[in-house]
Amino acid sequence: MEHIKSALKKAGVTDGEGLEPAIAPPRSEKAFPLPVRKVETDESSNTPAKKPLRQVNIDLKHLERKRIVSKSMDDPNHIAFNLLRTRVRQAMADNKWKSLAITSPTPACGKTMVTLNLAFSLSRNPGLKTVVVDLDLRRPSIAPTLNIEPDRSIAQFLLGRADDPRDCFVQADPNLFLGLNSGHTPASSELLQSPKMLDLFNFVEKELSPEVILFDLPPMKSSDDALGFLPRVDTSLLVVASGTTTTKEVDECEIQISELDKLLGIVLNKCEDAQTEDYYY
Ligand SMILES: Nc1ncnc2c1ncn2[C@@H]1O[C@H](COP(=O)(O)OP(=O)(O)OP(=O)(O)O)[C@@H](O)[C@H]1O
Ligand SMILES: [Mg+2]
Repeated sequence: MEHIKSALKKAGVTDGEGLEPAIAPPRSEKAFPLPVRKVETDESSNTPAKKPLRQVNIDLKHLERKRIVSKSMDDPNHIAFNLLRTRVRQAMADNKWKSLAITSPTPACGKTMVTLNLAFSLSRNPGLKTVVVDLDLRRPSIAPTLNIEPDRSIAQFLLGRADDPRDCFVQADPNLFLGLNSGHTPASSELLQSPKMLDLFNFVEKELSPEVILFDLPPMKSSDDALGFLPRVDTSLLVVASGTTTTKEVDECEIQISELDKLLGIVLNKCEDAQTEDYYY
């Protein structure tokens, strides 16, 4: 904890007061909200075999421009994400957690950048099937960051305008699946808490069978989307930006997430001090 405090202080994010331990204690109950609706299998329903997910080729040059360094690993910054990956993986395995949300106090702290780097880094482990779901319905950015277009969006599925959730997902690597969004969706908070969300969980759990599922959420202080969704995940990371995020914002968000017992750690991003590592946990 002292490590996080002094790192945040050094980076100009906080005066170090009021920050509580960034790693949540283990909980006795599994928090991941398992689907409640029965899914018919191919055998029981006699439906035709499911179509495979669309595979996408991702332009490495484009990824580099967007600071996604964990796919090619040419940029030494990918090591920071390997460290984050391992810490996250160990904590999730210890607690039998599967779902991790990524949020921040305010916009542009680096949530999407962290989510995708973490996802590429996790999914390079053989057998570690990783799913990313873009649940920033107000300003989705997974698809544009990767320069790919979804056939259908998660929002369309949640609104009942897309029947097959497979059309909202693509396969980016052998072990990596992405649920995509596009455009701005009004009433996103209500959609994130709607029963259709359970159908989406159901699909991911039964048909993609991930070891880890990452949710890229909107910022906490811009709407109640993130706060309303957090009870549905096992744990979360709060991404804060050096020089932008204030002490008060870190404190407020940390308290809110901790009250839900969902805070795994704080990731310090955009730290300009070359002597200071960019990511703390
Ligand atoms: N460590 C970093 N150093 C410099 N620029 C960064 C860093 N991390 C992210 N950025 C840039 O900051 C901008 C915002 O990053 P990103 O989209 O990941 O943030 P976000 O929190 O997801 O934003 P939003 O709230 O809009 O969803 C992008 O242009 C990204 O390339
Ligand atoms: Mg984003």
